[in-house]
Amino acid sequence: AAARPLRSDLAGLRVAVSTGGTREPIDPVRFLGNRSSGRQGAALAVSAAERGAAVTLVAAHVDDGVLDDALSHPGVALVRVSSAADLHAAMTDAAASADVVAMVAAVADFRVAEVSQGKLRKEDGVPELRLVPNPDILADLAASRGSGPARQTVVGFAAETASDDDELLERGRRKAARKGADLLVVNRVDWDRGFEAVENRVLILAADGTLVADAAGTKRAVADAVWDAVVASRP
Ligand code: CTP
Ligand code: CA
Repeated sequence: AAARPLRSDLAGLRVAVSTGGTREPIDPVRFLGNRSSGRQGAALAVSAAERGAAVTLVAAHVDDGVLDDALSHPGVALVRVSSAADLHAAMTDAAASADVVAMVAAVADFRVAEVSQGKLRKEDGVPELRLVPNPDILADLAASRGSGPARQTVVGFAAETASDDDELLERGRRKAARKGADLLVVNRVDWDRGFEAVENRVLILAADGTLVADAAGTKRAVADAVWDAVVASRP
């Protein structure tokens, strides 16, 4: 790996990071899921730990290989979750004592209203799944934190499909305003861009929509840029 300058600018801070993709059960053997690999959140956790933070990494369905570096760093405590409801509970718990919260996980926007206790069978016909909205965990964490000089920093991530950077920025600005987070990290995704990719490019927006950074490179480089923006944003 390339030599990195030694920094301990997150020393003494407690950080909670969510990563991966939630699964919403349909029946005992099926779920609604998404393509998030958990790599960006894992990189964020490792970067924070190397910069001195005590990290809780809440991971939803992340392959063990993706978590290798996080698991071997003594500064990272791993909590595994499955559904959005699990992730909500785990992040609320971790956020209670965190200085910085980063929601990197791809959280299912909807869950199945009535989970079938038995396996759905073809002989019962084509199922009609009724969906209900999940709570917005990021907005909830941003709204329920305390105020004051030691105010918690809340970071959101947004994967957007957009035809160009202007549209990406416009969508990001609207989402930043809606979420109430201090920073929103926006990246462009497509069928073949963003998810499993090792390289990444992101725009980091402040709550008021100001562009504070435009970072590209590995997910680790993006993670470092996010922590730089967090450090710069804290009083
Ligand atoms: N998020 C969350 N809880 C949800 C949905 C999303 O905490 N129920 C968080 C994600 O972890 C991410 C941010 O909100 O940090 C943005 O997620 P995104 O899916 O881009 O935004 P949504 O508000 O769900 O809007 P949409 O999917 O319609 O673009
Ligand atoms: Ca969403």
